[in-house]
Amino acid sequence: TSLARFVDPLPIPSIARAAGQRAHPSQPERTLPYYRLDMRACTARLHRDIPPTSLWGYGGQFPGPTIEARKGEPLLVEWVNALPPKHFLPIDHSIHGAERDKPEVRAITHVHGARVSADADGFPEDWFTPGHSALYRYGNEQDAATLWYHDHAMGITRLNIYAGLVGTYIVRDEEEAALGLPSGDADIPLILCDRLVAQNGQLYYPVSDDPSAPWVMQCEGNLVLCNGKIFPYLEVEPRRYRLRMINVANTRFFDLSLSHDLPFQQVASDQGLLAAPLQRARIELYPAERADVVIDFSAVAGKSVQLRHEADGILEFRVREQGRRDMSSVPATLRSVPRIDPVSAVQNRILTLNEVDDANGNAMTMLLDGKRWSDPISESPRQNSIETWSFVNLTGDAHPIHLHLVRFQIVDRRPFDLFAWNAHRKLVFTGPAISPEPHELGWKDTVRADPGMVTRIAMRFEGEPGRYVWHCHFLEHEDNEMMRPYRVLPAQS
Ligand code: C2O
Ligand code: CU
Repeated sequence: TSLARFVDPLPIPSIARAAGQRAHPSQPERTLPYYRLDMRACTARLHRDIPPTSLWGYGGQFPGPTIEARKGEPLLVEWVNALPPKHFLPIDHSIHGAERDKPEVRAITHVHGARVSADADGFPEDWFTPGHSALYRYGNEQDAATLWYHDHAMGITRLNIYAGLVGTYIVRDEEEAALGLPSGDADIPLILCDRLVAQNGQLYYPVSDDPSAPWVMQCEGNLVLCNGKIFPYLEVEPRRYRLRMINVANTRFFDLSLSHDLPFQQVASDQGLLAAPLQRARIELYPAERADVVIDFSAVAGKSVQLRHEADGILEFRVREQGRRDMSSVPATLRSVPRIDPVSAVQNRILTLNEVDDANGNAMTMLLDGKRWSDPISESPRQNSIETWSFVNLTGDAHPIHLHLVRFQIVDRRPFDLFAWNAHRKLVFTGPAISPEPHELGWKDTVRADPGMVTRIAMRFEGEPGRYVWHCHFLEHEDNEMMRPYRVLPAQS
């Protein structure tokens, strides 16, 4: 594109401030910090030379304010739907959950990666309409990590997120703070997504040729946004910074690198710290995945460094000649990440990923284990038990699979014989199991399930019993049946 590069400063989302204290929902003698975030229509300049864009944002911002939480310190958020009565993006009423008898504008917030009780998880069917709100308690009983919050309303999540309903939720803990990683104004969330932006500045969401079923199976934009800006720049000092990179795009995956042969030092993945920092020249992020990286600008004082997606600069760091003394460090070990032994699993579930095509070979819908959202619950792990789930990908594409509530580990990926599976539903492996890459050895909540592979994860179902969901995080897929409820049963006593 001919847009001028690096003319707008990178916005840093504001930190959400508690509006006061409120009674704990189940222990009225206790009070908790109370936040209130309203979703509302707003406009923003995505770039100096693009007219203002209509968006929806938490707190009227895109991305929304960053929520800062501390491990073990619960907080309350009232999520308020203050959106207009009409949607500005094309709803597909033929999709389950978005039929014509449903209100057009519905919203519900999920904190991605949070260990939260089921009634505060943002179950997709528990959406509410403008003028209503939900008060959720987040226990923050989990390790430091970069989480994010976003809309999850049944059948229109892809549109609500595309409209701008996303924000960062950071959990901090003592163990991490003691490491001395870059902090304060050297600790910056970097929310990455893409959008189709028309000449007049308005967002455009693609539609199929069938006006009665406008759903498309993917949505890739023409422009990449960093914290809601196109081609921004950030002035930095010649020191270390921690960037919390989050892919909030509908479908796009990012292939990130730095100019000047600068490496990333990855210190965390989805669910927090890796065992040890990992030097990486390139980082791929599928939708919903996170990578916290430390970048050391001390060797490039006075220079301009670009963060690239593929070959294209999307963000420019302008490194000053001088700065304050850098007191941060990146210790050689960060946290112990004990491996879950898959042999200790009490259940090993085999679950397929499916694409259902029409007579012309066009995708009509995507399924998990051949089931629809409305089919009865088929996965009911026991609280605190260990299970492995193997995703048998029968489609031609990789899918980012996400489970609510739990953190998991990637066990392996193994090629299998698709014909044998299709002929008699038998898993015949065609090669050895491939271990996860070093950066995949930390705690995850979203995993890339490659085509032609069985991707196996292992997790312990820690958290409260109740009904949660798992799904593909390509938002177009999630909205069109590639999402399933699951239930955590109370631990056996
Ligand atoms: Cu990022 Cu079901 O969520
Ligand atoms: Cu998918």
